Amino acid sequence: MPRRRGTHPVSDADALACPDTYARGVPYDRLERLRARTPVVWLDERIAGGPGSWAVLRYADVRHALAHPELFAAESGTAPHGTPGPTAGPPAGPATGPATGMIDMEPPAGALLARITADPADFAAEVAAELPGTLRNTLAGGLYALLRDPEQYARLRASRADDDLVDSAVEEMLRWWTPVMCVRRTVLRPTIMGGVPLLAGERVSLWLTAADHDDTVFPEPERFVPDRFRVGAGARPQLALGYGTHACLGAMLARLHLRALVTAVLERPGRLASAGDPVRLRSTVRQGFERLPVRWIA
Ligand code: HEM
Repeated sequence: MPRRRGTHPVSDADALACPDTYARGVPYDRLERLRARTPVVWLDERIAGGPGSWAVLRYADVRHALAHPELFAAESGTAPHGTPGPTAGPPAGPATGPATGMIDMEPPAGALLARITADPADFAAEVAAELPGTLRNTLAGGLYALLRDPEQYARLRASRADDDLVDSAVEEMLRWWTPVMCVRRTVLRPTIMGGVPLLAGERVSLWLTAADHDDTVFPEPERFVPDRFRVGAGARPQLALGYGTHACLGAMLARLHLRALVTAVLERPGRLASAGDPVRLRSTVRQGFERLPVRWIA
């Protein structure tokens, strides 16, 4: 059948490499098709100004690459987020170690939440504007999970005293949202992944968001399921904060912030509501919002 001009279908891989795609939300359907057919696929990233890379889409392969720095080298100095600002604390995530419980997260969480009143406010551009980007995107993603699913929101609110459930919900928010969508590596030694021979010097992009939505690991990955990571539920760890040698050094801090905000939201009388259409970031790397209008309903 003749094809009219302008109707050429965009291939799933082309769409993945195009920042405009993400303005409409992560293309999970395309990721799923690719993961099933070509779990390691070449991405021509010229449209985003990149040199191209092998996209790795399956949970097992992504985790394998993260766990083997002798095969897949991280590019030095490329932590996928900006320098933490004052509200995120000093870059001492790991050093706080077992003492993280001593960091009082209530004031920043409480102060953020107090900025959301009955009048529409923009969580991304006003309420959390001074937080470092990745933390802002993480918190916004967590709130968005609640906004999108009033039933689970109400259930969590009713069960907010259940610490294990709230911890699990935080972990599920990280999985469901995965604010850093992919991280880069360079192949150090020839190896085979997903049936594809990878050559030394080639670049790979490890799609954390595809791994965290791999339905062979996380059933019904598109659903926000607060119970998914309950102790004893047997869920595999989500990869939103990386894994292995280069796993996020601020992971504890990130979880503490998210938990503090979620707890504050669940404990405050009334509820969070949408106050307009969100505008997503136009990025192939980060998932977040340019605007997330919200308000508080007493
Ligand atoms: C708020 C949510 C955050 C998310 C989703 C996040 C995500 C990530 C991810 C996915 C990586 C792995 C990068 C890779 O494998 O190449 C990473 C690395 C890193 N993160 Fe975070 N991060 C967050 C917060 C923070 C905070 C608050 C800090 C500092 C206090 C921090 C410090 C670091 C550092 C230093 C690395 C590099 C580790 C290395 O290369 O050895 N992160 N982060």
